[in-house]
Amino acid sequence: MINMTAPSAPPFAVYVHWPFCLSKCPYCDFNSHVRHGDIDEARFVRAFETELATTAARVPGRTVSSIFFGGGTPSLMQPSSVAAILDSIGRHWTIAPDVEVTLEANPTSVEASRFRGYRSAGVNRVSLGVQALDDEALRELGRLHTMQEALDAVGVARAIFDRYSFDLIYARPRQTPGAWAAELRRAIGEAAEHLSLYQLTIEPDTPFAGLYAAGKLAVPDDNLARDLYDLTQSVCADAGLPAYEISNHARPGAECRHNLVYWRGHEYAGIGPGAHGRLNIGGRRVATETEKRPESWLMRVEAAGSGVTVDERLTPGETADEYLLMGLRLAEGIELARYTVLAGRIIDPQRVTFLREQGTVEMTKTGRLRVTQSGFPLLDAVVADLAA
Ligand SMILES: C[S@@+](CC[C@H](N)C(=O)[O-])C[C@H]1O[C@@H](n2cnc3c(N)ncnc32)[C@H](O)[C@@H]1O
Ligand code: SF4
Repeated sequence: MINMTAPSAPPFAVYVHWPFCLSKCPYCDFNSHVRHGDIDEARFVRAFETELATTAARVPGRTVSSIFFGGGTPSLMQPSSVAAILDSIGRHWTIAPDVEVTLEANPTSVEASRFRGYRSAGVNRVSLGVQALDDEALRELGRLHTMQEALDAVGVARAIFDRYSFDLIYARPRQTPGAWAAELRRAIGEAAEHLSLYQLTIEPDTPFAGLYAAGKLAVPDDNLARDLYDLTQSVCADAGLPAYEISNHARPGAECRHNLVYWRGHEYAGIGPGAHGRLNIGGRRVATETEKRPESWLMRVEAAGSGVTVDERLTPGETADEYLLMGLRLAEGIELARYTVLAGRIIDPQRVTFLREQGTVEMTKTGRLRVTQSGFPLLDAVVADLAA
């Protein structure tokens, strides 16, 4: 169970997407772009402020419980830009006294040199994309930093922020369980309170997808990937960092509150190119999406006040399915009573019984439905089975 103090206002999160990177990693399909010329950062910041104002007019009066600068590489932004965006958020909404403000950072020395500036701007948590504690793997992943640089950046983060996390990618080419266990133990030694551990996914239309199709990228087969997943769970749990979400591990109380907003089906505004939002307007859940191409987003915002290209009221069934899809990623699972309210009907008891008999889901005494340890590797199939 996640043990956190109950906030007085319902959680409301703001996601801000900075869409630029210094180079494109060959496995990545995030909305990230490389520009060889200068980026007019001041103009982008003005556009973020404009889109914030437009969004705040639609959902006024909220208390912001978390803010997340994601990317792309937000650690390429000047601290003054981050400060300006945070000020703008504070002008439109109330900021909770214990607000969590996370910034995703790439662990190069140049970016780490800005950490103090981010803290002065109001950032209180960083999430570092370490990806591997192995130089050969970092090269193969196309990263611009070495293991030592990444560890140095983690050291800077530790000295400046009370809270930090880092990401690793596992199930990499040629990775053995022994090597991964050693790397993971080392990571836990550096991590303190939170780690995001992602299995390498071959995303369509990436350079890795091309190499994989050509037989030039040997990733672990399903059996080995399963062994690596199981190993990840046991090493982290033994070290006091159990999974609270399928790929996220934390000491109890140190979970990323921002991501919990998504997984628990709360409300969030998505600002910037390609950002997604979920707003509660007039008793309905509204899904928003903005233009992905940075310069097109900028022009839309300058012309119309927002880069929103998708603005859809979800049906009760869609809202309930999203709650299921996101909530079952969490170890705590979903509240069946809330599903019933959202969907306007109960979840199919026969399907639940079938999955319980298979051992992939279980019911808690407090009326929650959750995926079991052995069910997690089959999460997609479980969700597909339960969704309407
Ligand atoms: C938005 S990305 C990156 C943030 C930052 N730009 C960086 O690279 O350090 C968030 C995380 O997703 C993970 N990720 C991205 N693509 C992935 C893939 N194909 N397979 C597994 N994990 C992936 C990486 O661990 C990455 O740190
Ligand atoms: S993994 Fe991070 S640094 Fe690499 S392209 Fe994607 S967003 Fe940019």
